[in-house]
Order: sequence, then C-alpha cells, then structure tokens
Amino acid sequence: MAEAATGKLASIHPAQCREWPGHYTFTPEEIVRIHGIVAMLLFWIAASFTSSTAAETKATMKKQPFGKTEDGRSVDLYTLTNKSGTEVAITNFGGIVVALKVPDRNGKLDDVVLGYDNLDGYTSNTAYFGAIIGRYGNRIAHGEFALDGVTYRLPQNDGDNTLHGGKVGFNKRVWTVKDVSGSPGPALELTYLSKDGEEGFPGNLNVRVVYTLTDKNELRIEYFATTDKPTVVNLTNHSYFNLAGQGNGDILGHEVVLHADRFTPVDQALIPTGELRPVKGTPFDFTKPTAIGARMNQEDQQLKVGRGYDHNWVLNGGGRGGLSLAAEAYDAKSGRVLDVLTTEPGIQFYTGNFLDGTIHGKGGKVYNLRYGFCLETQHFPDSPNHPSFPPTLLKPGQEYRSTTVFKFSTR
Ligand code: GLA
Repeated sequence: MAEAATGKLASIHPAQCREWPGHYTFTPEEIVRIHGIVAMLLFWIAASFTSSTAAETKATMKKQPFGKTEDGRSVDLYTLTNKSGTEVAITNFGGIVVALKVPDRNGKLDDVVLGYDNLDGYTSNTAYFGAIIGRYGNRIAHGEFALDGVTYRLPQNDGDNTLHGGKVGFNKRVWTVKDVSGSPGPALELTYLSKDGEEGFPGNLNVRVVYTLTDKNELRIEYFATTDKPTVVNLTNHSYFNLAGQGNGDILGHEVVLHADRFTPVDQALIPTGELRPVKGTPFDFTKPTAIGARMNQEDQQLKVGRGYDHNWVLNGGGRGGLSLAAEAYDAKSGRVLDVLTTEPGIQFYTGNFLDGTIHGKGGKVYNLRYGFCLETQHFPDSPNHPSFPPTLLKPGQEYRSTTVFKFSTR
C-alpha cells in the first residue's frame, strides 16, 4: 500500500504542481478528477443505503389480542413480517393462519387466504379455514380403527366417518406459543398436549408445530409429535388459497400442477376404495398446468361424488424423507405463484365444494362456491384401515415429523 502510494506521488511531474513547504498542492486536472471520484463515492454510498432500506425492512413479530374462547381463555394474533414486507398472521386458537399477505407481480400485497376477521368466526367455523388439523387429518371410515387388537371408536362428525380429528379437533384447541424467530425469518412455535383418550384416540400426544416465514417468501410448517402409547397421527394445514386475493372471485381459472401420476378414488362417503388409480386420461390428470375449472363439469363418477375435486393424490416424490415439489398454482391476472413442497406421501386437493355463499369472511367478503382451494399435504385418508397405504402409526420412542413449505413468487 505504502509503496503504491509513494509510486503514485512519484509519478506526478514536478512541473504539474506547486510546492509549499510541508504541503502538496493538486493541479486543476487532479481536482476535477478527485471531485469526480468523491461524487461517485457519495452516489454509491447513497444508492446502497437506499436499496438496503427498501429491500431489507427488519423482520418482526407483533402480538395483539384476538378475543376470548367460549370458556373464557384469551387468545392472541401473531403477525410475522419478513424483510421484504410479506406478512402472515397466526392465532394460537387452532394454530390458524388468519391472513397471508404476499405481493403480486407489481409488488402489491394482497391477502391470499380465506378466513374471518375475529375469533368468533373461527369458533363456529365448520370449513376449517387455515387451521392445523389433527390428530388425524381427513376421514377415518365409520369412526373406528383397530390397533394391536383393540378397536378404538371416535366421534362421528361427517356422516358416520370421523373427519379432521373429530368433534373438537386440533383446529379448535388453544395452543401454547413461543417466539422462536431466527436467521431464516420470524418463527412461531405452537405446542399442544392431546390427552390420552381425547376424541377417542389412544396415547398422550405431545404436538409441536413451527411456522416460519422465511425471507424468501416461504411459509414453512414443521410438525413434530411424540406419544406414550401406540396411536395414529396425520397432521396438516387447512388453508384455503385464492391467489387473486381472498373473496375476489372463484379459483376456476387458476392453473394447477400436481406432481402425481395416481390418485386414491373414493366411495360415496369419500373414503378411499384402496385403489391407486392412474390419472392419465382422466380429469384428475394435473401433471401439466391445467385450469382448475377446465374439466370440473365433465361426466365423471369421481367428480360427481366429490362435488368437484376433493381427493387425495399420490405424490410421485412423496414420503421419501426429503422435501419434494408436490404442487404448483398460478393466477395469471395477479402473476402470483404458489409452490407446495412436502415430505408427505399425499396431498388432498379440495376445491371449496362446500362453500355456498353463506359465509361472510374477512372484510365482509362473501365466500361462494369454489372461492378457494386447499392443498392439504398428508398421509392418505383412512390409512389406519388400509394396511397397503403408507402407515400413520406412531409408537412410543418414535418421533412424528413432517414438513410442508408454501412458497410464493410471481411471474
Ligand atoms: C377436506 C375434506 C373435505 C371437506 C373439507 C372441509 O378437504 O376432504 O371433504 O370436509 O376438508 O370442508
């Protein structure tokens, strides 16, 4: 360094400068050059400061009261904001994702999940908007299953089936909360002890769910559970998405890809028959981007019993331990893209077939038929009664683990 500086000084011709004792005086050309360099430096400092403030707002977590349950327990709403301003609001009642604000292709934020403005909506909600579903996501036929020779009977809340954990599933429980924010982004940990015998299931089940909003606009959901008796577990999240913004029309024009060559057809009660049927040549083939509504009204027995899509797809890359891309959805108007990655072997694609305009959701928006779609990552419905399906059995000493990522981007 010192040598280089000396070298530079030495290269200036003595005639180019005047010398005062102890001082070095710059020539006019040098002064112009220095001005240029200083201006460039100032511009660079200002530019880097502006871009860092625009792109890197601080990640935060804000807590506010959300209301009281019927038995008088206070619950809160936690709003997680990442560095680019994407926001998710989660309540510890049911671990419900109440709002999810993501940018469109012009950077405009919109709330892309259905739900209610306040707790009252959720306590009486039968649509499972945004909730953590457990102990067993989707249906168990006739509300019963056998384990080690013992038959367990569960409350029947869907004809004679048990749906989404029974009468009071995890979606209606108050969870304990901890802020576990870290380098990937703001994060909320929810824990719940489901007691032995709750909703008919055996074993004390300790459940932990971590929601992380990463700085890459991913909502990462990690599920963990342990038990003290053999039991069955199948956890998921029941968010209804509308990438055009909640309440802004139906989702029939959204293009969807499901990375699945087979699905599990169902009987009249929406219980899998056990068959893994190829999707090829049927309206269930979403291996290429296809509008949700493109084949919805085709003459098809499975579409008829489901009143649309309400089926489990067998994921090509699922259930092998790592995360793999399960589904993609795209709304051409807003440019929003949702990619779903999961460790689970299946995904329930449900197209809001039971929404009928009677629900007044957030901001007074009316939710009509097919105003939202769900991508519920899961083990297959009724697995406890289908030994050929990937097992949902959890034994003492084992840990249930499952991860799903909802990743948002635009194109
Ligand atoms: C799941 C089920 C549907 C329906 C919804 C909630 O997606 O498969 O049949 O029960 O949940 O309305």
